[in-house]
Parts: sequence; C-alpha cells; structure tokens
Amino acid sequence: MSTSSSSPLIFVLLLAAAATTVSATDHIVGANRGWNPGVNYTLWANNHTFYTGDLISFRYLKTQYNVFEVNQTGYDNCTTEGAVGNWTSGKDFILLDKAKRYYFICGTGGCFNGMKVSVLVHPLPSPPSSAVGAGHSPAENSAATGRRRRGSAVAVVGAVAALLASIWSGSVWIL
Ligand SMILES: *[C@@H]1O[C@H](CO)[C@@H](O)[C@H](O)[C@H]1NC(C)=O
Ligand SMILES: *[C@@H]1O[C@H](CO)[C@@H](O)[C@H](O)[C@H]1NC(C)=O
Ligand SMILES: *[C@@H]1O[C@H](CO)[C@@H](O)[C@H](O)[C@H]1NC(C)=O
Ligand SMILES: *[C@@H]1O[C@H](CO)[C@@H](O)[C@H](O)[C@H]1NC(C)=O
Ligand SMILES: *[C@@H]1O[C@H](CO)[C@@H](O)[C@H](O)[C@H]1NC(C)=O
Repeated sequence: MSTSSSSPLIFVLLLAAAATTVSATDHIVGANRGWNPGVNYTLWANNHTFYTGDLISFRYLKTQYNVFEVNQTGYDNCTTEGAVGNWTSGKDFILLDKAKRYYFICGTGGCFNGMKVSVLVHPLPSPPSSAVGAGHSPAENSAATGRRRRGSAVAVVGAVAALLASIWSGSVWIL
C-alpha cells in the first residue's frame, strides 16, 4: 500500500479539526462588569464588532434586573411598550441573527441608570472580501481572523468530501 497519499489526508483532517473548534463569538455585555447600573455600555459596544450569528449575553442579578429587546423609541426613552422580547434568567444568551441595529434595555428601572445597550450587527463578510476589509483595532482584527477561519471551514469540508470521494472510487489508498 502506498503511504505517500496518507500525509495529505492527515493534513486535511488536522485542518478540519482546527476549523471545527471555531464558533460564533459570544459578546458578554459589560465584560466582567456584567449588566449593572453605572456602566457606559456605549463604550463597551464601540469596542466590539458584531456579525450575524454572534451571541450577545447578559449576566446579572435576576432578582433585580432583566433584559428587554426594544426599538429605538424604547431605547431612547427607557420604555418597554411593544418590546420584541424579554429575558429574565440572569444569564441570557441572545442570538444576533439579523444584520441590523439591536436595542436592549433593563425593564426594571435600571435603564435610567445606564442599563441600555445598542449594537449594530454586520452581515458576515464573505472570505475574500474580509481579507481586504480587515479592521483597524486589535479587537476588530481578531474578529476578522475568526471570520476568515470560519470561512475556511467550508473549504475544508469540501476538501474532505473530495478526498472521501476519491477514496471510495479507489484512486487513493489510506495506509
Ligand atoms: C458614554 O461614553 C460616550 C463616549 O465618551 C459619551 O458620549 C456618552 O455620553 C457616555 N454615556 C453616558 C450615559 O455617560
Ligand atoms: C476594549 O477592549 C480591550 C481589549 O479587549 C480592553 O482591554 C479594553 O478594556 C476595552 N475597553 C473598554 C472600554 O471596554
Ligand atoms: C421620548 O420621550 C420624550 C419625552 O419624554 C418625547 O418627547 C419623545 O417624543 C419620545 N420619543 C419618541 C421617539 O417617542
Ligand atoms: C417603537 O414601538 C412603539 C410601540 O409599538 C411605537 O409606538 C414606536 O413608534 C416604535 N418606534 C420606532 C422607532 O419604530
Ligand atoms: C415577555 O415575553 C413573553 C414571551 O416570551 C411574553 O409572553 C410576555 O408578555 C413578555 N413580558 C413583557 C412584560 O413584555
């Protein structure tokens, strides 16, 4: 049996293993300060780049606070009328599945003490254009790297499929 064909296979499998460890970014609101009064969440949001498929997560004392997704009026005026959704677990993970601006506020009065955050979610860049449009800050650069790796996972899956097809057709021997 040929051993020369096994090294590309191993290489592809290693790549696939590395690629599958990539998942969507979870943006923890306020980082280690969590979802609490007196934090400037505009500064926090400005330090992050959000893409469709990412998560935003809120960590807070569930006996005191909660999370409402509202529209711009609700965000500006701290009102929950017509809220799109609400979460109360104290550790809420919310999927940002659309490319749009999202608004979240605390519905127990914390909004008036700064517990409001607005994030602009960008469409996932396609792999070629993401290399061109790489960000300017370290945070943006690492996010862009993550996207590129996620895009490469698709290529790896294709390569594995092609390799399996050639194994089945007998053109490649595995040691
Ligand atoms: C948060 O910081 C930004 C930028 O410095 C500032 O414009 C904004 O007024 C601050 N918001 C609050 C609620 O202090
Ligand atoms: C912005 O992000 C950097 C790197 O993650 C961090 O060190 C810094 O404290 C953050 N600044 C704010 C205002 O969250
Ligand atoms: C927000 O509230 C202010 C007064 O509290 C009101 O004048 C304004 O119309 C409200 N904004 C919207 C968009 O409803
Ligand atoms: C937000 O929702 C409220 C209640 O449904 C509505 O009156 C208001 O016009 C909406 N504001 C925007 C900016 O869509
Ligand atoms: C919170 O969301 C649930 C549905 O998930 C809804 O039934 C409930 O009315 C909402 N509560 C408020 C205060 O909007």
